[in-house]
Amino acid sequence: MKQSIFEVKANTKIAENTYKMVLGGDCSGITASGQFVNIKLDGFFLRRPISVCDYDDNELTLIYKVVGKGTEYMAELGAGEKLDILTGLGNGYDLSKSGNEPVLIGGGAGVPPMYNLCRKLVAEGKKPQVILGFNKENELFFENEFKALGAEVTVTTADGSYGMKGFVTDALKNMKYTYIYSCGPEPMLKAIYNTAETSGQLSFEERMGCGFGACMGCSCATKYGNKRICKDGPVLEMEEIIW
Ligand SMILES: Cc1cc2nc3c(=O)[nH]c(=O)nc-3n(C[C@H](O)[C@H](O)[C@H](O)COP(=O)(O)OP(=O)(O)OC[C@H]3O[C@@H](n4cnc5c(N)ncnc54)[C@H](O)[C@@H]3O)c2cc1C
Ligand code: FES
Repeated sequence: MKQSIFEVKANTKIAENTYKMVLGGDCSGITASGQFVNIKLDGFFLRRPISVCDYDDNELTLIYKVVGKGTEYMAELGAGEKLDILTGLGNGYDLSKSGNEPVLIGGGAGVPPMYNLCRKLVAEGKKPQVILGFNKENELFFENEFKALGAEVTVTTADGSYGMKGFVTDALKNMKYTYIYSCGPEPMLKAIYNTAETSGQLSFEERMGCGFGACMGCSCATKYGNKRICKDGPVLEMEEIIW
């Protein structure tokens, strides 16, 4: 874990209630796709955890949905604002298990961590397929960004306003793949587990307290005992979870 000051370079609305924030700063604490950062916001006691969407040595990209007071505050931040951020949190995805044609499944606010993962898999010569699930068309983001990486992309919307009508698992049923990586709401992750034809890794965005393993506020029951999403996760193996 590393604590650094980052500067907001841009903070733009990319879909309904959804913003992309690009920050400049030292990203050397980030070591794996699927890790998260924890952001200190003036006037808020708890930091807000947000997944790393993309990063290089000194630029960090986050995508966040406005759902409450903290993310409302973030949406107001303009270029030049400084933020105290803990980086390098969580375990991240293990790319070595992907096989040649993994499927990456992001649901809503779970889409962002799939981006850096996809970029790394493509760089390794893998052929990732991507499923992006949203409730409706105006929530959609990053379809073109994933396509620009060279991935095959399927979008599902629950109301059928864009792409395939239905849930990510409706798209998954028709696919051949070597492994699954996913991030999204827990009911979606459970549905993926029930549909999956291979094993995989799932990222849980549970509610958090401290964010670094001290409070047990993010505990998840697994076959190996309770695990803390913030410290032992957020990525867990599909088969270890007690659903
Ligand atoms: C590992 C991880 C990665 C995440 N990545 C993303 C992401 O990439 N994009 C995104 O839009 N959201 C992400 N979230 C969810 C995000 O942290 C919450 O939406 C945000 O903290 C809500 O803050 P708020 O003040 O606006 O809402 P409030 O509901 O007012 O927050 C009150 C408290 O609850 C906590 N909280 C509320 N909802 C959540 C939640 N779903 N998960 C965790 N803590 C919550 C807040 O941290 C805060 O302490 C992630 C959560 C976790 C745990
Ligand atoms: S949030 Fe405190 S232990 Fe995970």
